[in-house]
Amino acid sequence: RTVFVNGSYLPEEAATVSIFDRGFLMADGVYEVTSVLGAKLIDWPGHCARLARSLKELDMAAPCSDEDLLAIHRELIVANGLTEGMVYLQVTRGNPGDRDFAFPDPSVTKSTLVMFTMVKTLESGNAAARKGHRVISIPDIRWGRRDIKTVQLLYPSMGKMMAKKAGVDDAWLTEDGFVTEGTSNNTWIVKGNRIVTRQLGTDILHGITRAAVLRCAADLQLEIEERPFTIEEAQAADEAFYTSASAFVMPVIEVDGAAIGKGVPGPIAARLREIYLDEMR
Ligand code: PDD
Repeated sequence: RTVFVNGSYLPEEAATVSIFDRGFLMADGVYEVTSVLGAKLIDWPGHCARLARSLKELDMAAPCSDEDLLAIHRELIVANGLTEGMVYLQVTRGNPGDRDFAFPDPSVTKSTLVMFTMVKTLESGNAAARKGHRVISIPDIRWGRRDIKTVQLLYPSMGKMMAKKAGVDDAWLTEDGFVTEGTSNNTWIVKGNRIVTRQLGTDILHGITRAAVLRCAADLQLEIEERPFTIEEAQAADEAFYTSASAFVMPVIEVDGAAIGKGVPGPIAARLREIYLDEMR
């Protein structure tokens, strides 16, 4: 793969970042994952706007202009012949040359920008969506600013491992009795004509796919409720699913061992996946 690091396109073996980089020492960085279908970026303006917001919330300078970021995405897609997959982008507060808790002076220490492509076929995603995913619930013990897309992904990684150990596909996080979101996705349930997903706040990531799927749901004339729901409500729902840039709309057929609906992917999730992909392509 050709990757991008701090202004240069390099073969991945040649791309390096300092051991003093604050992304490495302090998880002091933010990221975005943007899907690519038919060699085209999906919903880049949404990801670009969220990146700007994450940077601003952490008082971190943008590494370059939005136009440059888009140009690098396009260059990497071409250089790697990517037709289906994702582009990963990470900005950290850079390398101050030593370890220190205080933020370095941004006029001295420049942020680090790393970008690379990942291949993932739509067909593999469609196959998973036809089967549906099974999830367990685990307590949400992450920090209180989950609306900022930071690279602090240790607990989500642990959650994926707990799911794997339990023989299922993913974990849904719960706080004060309600589902916040999935390890790396936003969570939804369907009951009759009503579709429910948690409202935006500091306790979840403001998913770009979530926003697009809300628009698709409105087009389908579904009744939308943005509010928290419990695991029990999910288990009693007709359908459940999750959304993310890498999974699009993924049906969930079981939560904590209880089948949802008939225990197979439901028609509304399937329809939303179809409409979302049609609109984005
Ligand atoms: N994850 N919630 C969390 C905690 C996430 O990490 C993600 C994205 C989402 C969905 O956001 P979006 O629809 O904008 O992708 C929700 C990415 C895909 C990842 O970490 O790979």
